[in-house]
Amino acid sequence: MRLRVRRGPALRGRVRVPGDKSIGHRAILLAALARGRCVVRGLSGGADNLSTLAAIGAMGVRTSREGDALRVEGVGLRGLRMPAKVIDCGNSGTTMRLLAGLLSGQRFGVRLVGDESLSRRPMGRVVGPLRARGAHIGGTTAEGRPATEGALYPPLSIAPLVDGEALLGLEYEMPVASAQVKSCLLLSGLYAAGPTALSEPVVSRDHTERMLMALGVPLHTAGAAVYLDPSEWGGGWDGFSWMIPGDLSSAAFVLAAASMVPGSQVVVEGVGVNPTRTGLLDMLRFMGARVDLARRSEGVPGEPTADLAIAHTPLRGALLGGELLVRMIDEVPALCAMAATARGCTEIRDAQELRVKETDRVAAMAAVLDAFGVPSEELEDGLVVTGGGPLRPARVHSRGDHRVAMAAALLGLVAEGETVVEGAECIATSFPTFVPTLRALGAVIEEES
Ligand code: S3P
Repeated sequence: MRLRVRRGPALRGRVRVPGDKSIGHRAILLAALARGRCVVRGLSGGADNLSTLAAIGAMGVRTSREGDALRVEGVGLRGLRMPAKVIDCGNSGTTMRLLAGLLSGQRFGVRLVGDESLSRRPMGRVVGPLRARGAHIGGTTAEGRPATEGALYPPLSIAPLVDGEALLGLEYEMPVASAQVKSCLLLSGLYAAGPTALSEPVVSRDHTERMLMALGVPLHTAGAAVYLDPSEWGGGWDGFSWMIPGDLSSAAFVLAAASMVPGSQVVVEGVGVNPTRTGLLDMLRFMGARVDLARRSEGVPGEPTADLAIAHTPLRGALLGGELLVRMIDEVPALCAMAATARGCTEIRDAQELRVKETDRVAAMAAVLDAFGVPSEELEDGLVVTGGGPLRPARVHSRGDHRVAMAAALLGLVAEGETVVEGAECIATSFPTFVPTLRALGAVIEEES
């Protein structure tokens, strides 16, 4: 599928975005492990969340949909059954890494596979610490051989814990801030005989911590450290009813578009504004945009939400790195699009992790910017974008990465003439309503199969 995009009028109106992908994955997994029925509302219909949903179905968890509500018949912490075949995590790194932790504590074996992009993503970061706590997990080398050490990729194979065996306590200093690794280790920690004590260089998104605490799991956080001690705990939780807030990482593309197209005035309603995720809002302000939060409320499970309003003002370049980068790790492609229209240089540093996302997002965004005639310099840990000049229309390919595709479409909204974004079907990974949402605001954008 390709997108055709043209420079159009100012974007105006109020929209909603699909439910938060990160919170959605966790809600599905924790619902599967509950004792009894759970209802999860507001889940995105994105392909990544559907991969997690299919995975719990393959392990014997019954689910049904009624309108916006997903009903999950939770089977309890020990109720998952061995799947009949491999579990396909599709394009979803979160599905694979969280399942790796959860399934390391089971008494059945399982193999986790992914699509071509996921099969190139590093898995040693979860295999190493899981093995250190006694899990029987291995991955695959770049040459396709099964291995338990070194640089590892999917597929992952997990052998069962045998009778009398249990995962061990774990004290682990994570070398990289990663919510997927942290959540993997916390989920495995639910099955461990001892405590799980983790620290990361900077706090990554803390949805798992908030949700486990809401369910009564004895978990404590202090700065970038988290501690889970199941010995203080009866084990398990009852069914729950949760509402997933709108995904700030999808709203980011709407806000970025409004910040780029002169005259725009847009409100995105009901968006999750967990402070570990709101880096883009700070960055927009540094770049001179006006972003207001209204109708703030405390959502379940412990996730704050708000309506986000933005009115276009000319942007200026800014520096991004450190803690702020971690708080907007998925928003860098949208930022690159904004940077193209900002006056001066936008320098993005400390972003090595972007090279191991759905694609190498540093290289991909440098190539996309180049196609639009925007000068950028690729650095080992980021990118410097020189913005403010005219943009020529481009024909670009998504490289199979949903966020690269959406960022390219945003650039098409301000380039002279018609832009074509090839390989745009991947947008359905996280934001299946991207095109109708932009169209509702007045953008000139069409899908073509
Ligand atoms: C996610 C964590 C982040 C993020 C990804 C979703 C999660 O990845 O980039 O899109 O839901 O835990 P890392 O943990 O690899 O930084």
